[in-house]
Amino acid sequence: MGRTLISGGTVINATGTRKADVLVDGETITAILAPGTDSELVSRNTVERVIDATGKYVIPGAIDGHTHMEMPFGGTEASDTFETGTRAAAWGGTTSIVDFVIQKSGENPLQQFEAWHKKAAGNCAVDYGFHQVLSDIQPSSLTAMDELVNEGVTSFKFFMAYKGVFLSDDGQIFRGMQKAADNGALVMMHAENGSVIDVLVQQAIERGDTAPYFHGLTRPWQAEAEATHRAIMLADLTGAPLYIVHVSAKQAVEHIAAARDRGKNVFAETCPQYLYLSLEEQLGAPGFEGAKWVCSTPLRARAEGHQAHMWQGLRTNDLQVVSTDHCPFCMKGQKDMGIDDFSRIPNGFGGVEHRLDLMYQGVVMREISLPRWVELCCTTPARMFGMYGRKGVIEPGADADIVIYDPNGHTSIGVGKTHHMNIDYSAWEGFEIDGHVDTVMSRGKILIDDGKYHGRPGHGEYIKRGLSQYLI
Ligand code: URP
Ligand code: ZN
Ligand code: ZN
Repeated sequence: MGRTLISGGTVINATGTRKADVLVDGETITAILAPGTDSELVSRNTVERVIDATGKYVIPGAIDGHTHMEMPFGGTEASDTFETGTRAAAWGGTTSIVDFVIQKSGENPLQQFEAWHKKAAGNCAVDYGFHQVLSDIQPSSLTAMDELVNEGVTSFKFFMAYKGVFLSDDGQIFRGMQKAADNGALVMMHAENGSVIDVLVQQAIERGDTAPYFHGLTRPWQAEAEATHRAIMLADLTGAPLYIVHVSAKQAVEHIAAARDRGKNVFAETCPQYLYLSLEEQLGAPGFEGAKWVCSTPLRARAEGHQAHMWQGLRTNDLQVVSTDHCPFCMKGQKDMGIDDFSRIPNGFGGVEHRLDLMYQGVVMREISLPRWVELCCTTPARMFGMYGRKGVIEPGADADIVIYDPNGHTSIGVGKTHHMNIDYSAWEGFEIDGHVDTVMSRGKILIDDGKYHGRPGHGEYIKRGLSQYLI
């Protein structure tokens, strides 16, 4: 790989925007230059390739800090493999993912970590790191946490729901948080009151309320808000930093904002589905259609104002990250396991390809600014998950993970099978975006250009992450 000059574009970092040329040498960004700089550094003799970015945005490769490739869940497995899912990520301008190693109750955390390495190695189109799910936390899990931090797994997801599969009780969570407070890891929390939800689900099924819509009604916002508050209090007692995943309830954001106002290390992400989609429109679609959007936490009622509150939280920094929680299942053979019983519908859906576009639409809608778009999708995930400097920024010394985004382009999402994820439908079908991912570069290698994919499985490398840069 020689030198590449990206000329004429507007460079957008979380800190602001400026017109500049970007010089890439091999896998690394080596200079940010005044537009049109004509020097020895960028003479035509030494630059192998010039990419004209006139009228376009030049942004850091996006980082999706919450994906589930090949995740065993709900009696099946997420339909994107590391190969198909990371290729789809590349199409959408995402050049790094952080996926979850799954350790279910009774499994050995370190063996699971090795198993996930085997699944991902040699298959990924973009760089990847791992968080680790720890279920039913035992003393051996606590020992494993120290070892995993040394391996670059510096964040652990605990569950307050899914009894018998993932759930840890409060005492176990408390022990896990004490360990995180000690070794500097970030605790990620699935915050829903699982015991209450299990009762509501059982009662709904007994009443004959079996349609996908009841998935939403049996996971009410109170169950999310209560668990969020409890997680914050447990973290407070231990001093562990806390990151609440997939926040969808307005009242949960209020607890997070209050904790932050008290000066606590409490962080949170939301996902595009909680900004755009709703209980009424999607989960309430006729027949079994709503199954396409069954995920947890669930889509919330627009009438209750949750979606508008999520946008507000992104503006005010009550929410700091947008991830996808990409966990796709096909309608045929997977989602349809729950045709007579919503509780058997595997939870989750796909979106790894669309996050950057969907969030850019937030810029068009004037919900967020251009630098905030980059901050939410690229820079804060890099800082939060210990990758900043190499990732999440356009500056000399950073990996040349770069997206050239055309604000005058257009993207029609998921009309027919236009997406690249391994799913037989699109949860985003019909969405129109006033922008387009034109060129995607990962460590200096062009993955997407001119509507063509030039990547390969195995280009993506494991990212051995450091501790969250919000804590040091
Ligand atoms: O429904 C969801 N969110 N599926 C993925 C697993 C999780 O809880 O993140
Ligand atoms: Zn979760
Ligand atoms: Zn998830």
